[in-house]
Amino acid sequence: MNYIGIDLGTSAVKLLLMQGDGKILKIVSREYPIYFPAPGWSEQNPGDWYQETVAGLKELLADSDKSQVAGISFGGQMHGLVALDENDEVIRPAILWNDGRTAEESEYLNQAIGKEKLSDYTANISFAGFTAPKILWMKKQEPENFARIHKIMLPKDYLAYRLTGVHCSDVSDASGTLFFDVKNRCWSKEMCEVCGIKMEWLPRIYESYEAVGTLKAEIAEELGISEKTVIAAGAGDNAAAAVGTGTVGDGACNISLGTSGTVFISTKEFGVDANNALHSFAHADGSYHLMGCMLSAASCNKWWMDEIIGTQEYAKEQGQIQGLGENHVYFLPYLMGERSPHNDPDARGTFIGLTMDTTRADMTQAVLEGVAFGLRDSLEVARSLGIQISRTKICGGGAKSPLWRMIVANVLNICVEAPENEEGPAMGAAMLAAVAHGEYESVEQAAEAIVRRKEVIDPEPELVARYERRYQQFKKIYPACRALFAQLK
Ligand code: XUL
Repeated sequence: MNYIGIDLGTSAVKLLLMQGDGKILKIVSREYPIYFPAPGWSEQNPGDWYQETVAGLKELLADSDKSQVAGISFGGQMHGLVALDENDEVIRPAILWNDGRTAEESEYLNQAIGKEKLSDYTANISFAGFTAPKILWMKKQEPENFARIHKIMLPKDYLAYRLTGVHCSDVSDASGTLFFDVKNRCWSKEMCEVCGIKMEWLPRIYESYEAVGTLKAEIAEELGISEKTVIAAGAGDNAAAAVGTGTVGDGACNISLGTSGTVFISTKEFGVDANNALHSFAHADGSYHLMGCMLSAASCNKWWMDEIIGTQEYAKEQGQIQGLGENHVYFLPYLMGERSPHNDPDARGTFIGLTMDTTRADMTQAVLEGVAFGLRDSLEVARSLGIQISRTKICGGGAKSPLWRMIVANVLNICVEAPENEEGPAMGAAMLAAVAHGEYESVEQAAEAIVRRKEVIDPEPELVARYERRYQQFKKIYPACRALFAQLK
């Protein structure tokens, strides 16, 4: 049978058709707008997500044997707030994961409620991008909208709802709301009280690989596939990407170089980083994970290439780079503020060290390196907890660049394994659908059977030493700029 994975990303929805044995039959991608109504704000229309998803499904299924489609699932951008009224209409545009407007509300949660209590209830502290501070923001700034709330959900759950009519979410995505009790895999009554959320607003929770229902009859007819097509709950995009790269079980690592950049470490046992610098979330394989998240990763490179130097020829531009580890320019990749490890919505992107002989290639290189240094910041937190990581998988649009993969391997001093495809979340989502339909007994079994390695990049000791010196310099730049960032607000 065949399975469809839908990755509801920030710049586009990617849809992937996978055979039961893991062979990818087709991938399509459809973009939708993102709105930045004020500096540091970011929003999208859930209606756009749905419209492009349905158009994408039609494109994906054209010329394929539709009778073979047995399951659909999702990987979705996390933390976004989708609020519906009593008629299940969207109340306002979704406030996204990289939106920094909630600095005050997040500060209130961390200070007035207290990090200790938050960590006790949810295993996490508040970050501006999480869902709970968004609810507090809406309550204070848009009371008329808040009063209309009948249901709240996460971005991919809106798709599941439109396709099935079921209000559902999964443990991995719910973990990023800050009103979910990660350890016990259920909504937190205490946090709902703190945020003024009624329990009946919340969708029912499933494991990521569980079926939540089947396709609505009219949609099945429109797509020409069976009404019995199983819809699995799916996962937050990072947990889905981890499934897609085979990052399951204990102590495995995945790095995602997408719009965001994440370092994802799977763990069998529930655990919390004492300083809560890493998120402690439920994993889509039934266990847990720790994760550091940068708000801008491949998006820094996209911004630099598309908006600033105005080219689409990424590979050609990167081909001009010489002398890895020797750049005099540094780049702080905080174009949307930063989450891990600084938790600072006011942080901003910064080039530093420019001279008259600085070239465009030096700056392109600084952007790639700045993102790798940011990933290293999260890895250092994991190392400080005694977690030894010597290898990682890698996925996401940025991982298509061999040069960037090499920079990451050497900056982090770990072996980087590129899987056969970089479609982490969409692949993982299709695998979750396959498990829900019974093609595999467990997510681990599916990963074992399906994920194949394409390439391994080993760090080179001399380059590692050069990058180590540069990382030690990079680390000093943010603390030196922090107070200034707050003043520039
Ligand atoms: C994770 C996070 C991002 C988004 C990107 O905590 O905020 O990785 O999920 O889609």
